[in-house]
Amino acid sequence: MQGRGAPEDLRALMGTLALAADTTQVLDLDDIHRPRTALKASMELAARAWGADRTWFLVNGSSCGNLAMILATVGPGQEILVPRAAHRSVHGALVLSGARPVYLESPLDDEMGVHHPVEPEALARALEAHPQARAVFFTSVTPYGAAAAVEDLVALGRQRGLPVLVDEAWGPHLVFHPDLPTSALTAGADLVVHSAHKLLSALSQASMMHQSGHRVDPARVELALRMLQSTSPNCLLVASLDSARRQVALQGTRDWQRALDLAGATREALARVPGLRCPGPDRCARYDRTRLVVSALALGYTGVDLERHLRDHEAIQVEMSDLRNIVVLVTPAHQSRDLERLVGALARLPRRQGPARVPSLAATFPPPEQAMTPREAFYASTCVIPISQAPGRICAEFLTPYPPGIPLLCPGEVFCAGHVDHLARALAAGIPLEGPADPTLQTVRVVADPP
Ligand SMILES: Cc1ncc(COP(=O)(O)O)c(C=O)c1O
Repeated sequence: MQGRGAPEDLRALMGTLALAADTTQVLDLDDIHRPRTALKASMELAARAWGADRTWFLVNGSSCGNLAMILATVGPGQEILVPRAAHRSVHGALVLSGARPVYLESPLDDEMGVHHPVEPEALARALEAHPQARAVFFTSVTPYGAAAAVEDLVALGRQRGLPVLVDEAWGPHLVFHPDLPTSALTAGADLVVHSAHKLLSALSQASMMHQSGHRVDPARVELALRMLQSTSPNCLLVASLDSARRQVALQGTRDWQRALDLAGATREALARVPGLRCPGPDRCARYDRTRLVVSALALGYTGVDLERHLRDHEAIQVEMSDLRNIVVLVTPAHQSRDLERLVGALARLPRRQGPARVPSLAATFPPPEQAMTPREAFYASTCVIPISQAPGRICAEFLTPYPPGIPLLCPGEVFCAGHVDHLARALAAGIPLEGPADPTLQTVRVVADPP
C-alpha cells in the first residue's frame, strides 16, 4: 500500500518515506525469486564481494538459509552429518527434509557454559563411521565468537566428495579482514549462510546465501528458496542488503580494523576490573576478537542479571545474555565513547553478596539415543504423559533450554532419567524452555506407538 491509509501512529513511527518505499515485486522492480535486472546485478555484486560464484538474498533470516541448504541437498532417509549443538533452524530442516541426522559432537566449555564449534577429529570419525552420508553441515562461528577450523572441516568433506554446507550466520564480516577468523567461503565450502542483519548494517531478517561451484545444483537451491521465502519480499529489506554489501565492500577492511582495535582496548580495560571475566580468546584456538563475552558471576550477577542491570540502570542494551555471560558485539557502528560507557558501567557494578551460583550445563548422562528420525517422530501419533513417566519413551517435541538454545531433546530421541532431572534443574534456575506444549513441564508429548 506504500503507506496509503496507514494509521497516524505507524506513520509517526516509520516516517512517510519508509512507508512509501514499502513495495514488493511490481513491474520493473525485479523479482527476488527470478532476478533479471537490478536485483540480479545486486546479487552478482554481492557474490563478487564475498568471493562466491553466486549469491541469493534472503528475507527470512539465516534460518531460511539453513533450511534451504539442507532441503536442496539431502532427502528423506539420507544421512547428513550435523552438529547436535546446532541452531534450531537446522533441527527444523531435519523435520522438513526427512534427512537422517548423524550428530557430530561439539566440545562443551564448562567455564563459558557453551558449546564450541565441531572439531575436525569429530568430523573425521563420523565420516569414517558413516560412509553413506550425503552431506556435511557445520556452524563456522558461534554467537560467542568461537570459530571452527574451517579449512580442515571443508577439506574432510571434499575428500569424500560431499557438499559442505555452513551456517556462518555470525560471520558475514569475516572475509573483509585478515585478522578475523577464516570464512568458510574462503575455505571453499559449497553453500554458506550469512546474517547480514547481525553484524552488517542490513535490516533485521535480511541475510544472504552464497555458493561456490556446482556440487549442489543451484536450481534445487532456488526451488527450495521459492518454497521457503515469501512471494512478497519487503523491498526495504532487500535494499538494505544491497546497501550493506556496498558499505562493507568499499570500506570493510578499514571499518573492521577499527572494530578490532576498539574491542581489543575494551577487553584490556575490562581485564583490569576486579571480579569480571572476559573469556573467549583464552579458551578458543580461533576467535572473532570483535566479540566481547563478559561474566560477572564473582560479583553476584548471572548473565541475565547483568543484561538487566545494564539496561535498567545504565541505558545500555547488549546483544544477548545467558546464565553466565553477556555478549557484546563491537562493530563499525560503535564509537569509542560507546565502549567507554560500557567499561564505566561495568567498573561501577555494585558487588552483590556472594558469587552467583549457576548449574553446570554439562549433561551428566549419555547423549540421547535416537530411536526415530526427527521427521518420523514429528509425524507419529503422539500422546501427553506426566514427565515422571517419560524415561524410556520417545520424545515428540523439541525441549530447548533457552539459553543456550540447543535442544536437550529433539523429536525421535529417547528420554532418560538424566534428562528429566536436567530439565527440572533448568526450570528451577529460571531458564525458559522453548518448544514444549506444556511450559511448566508437568507433562511432555511422546510418541504413542513406538515402532
Ligand atoms: C548460529 C545461528 N545460526 C542461525 C541463526 C538464525 O539466524 P536468523 O536470525 O538470521 O534467522 C542464528 C540466530 O541467532 C544463530 O545463532
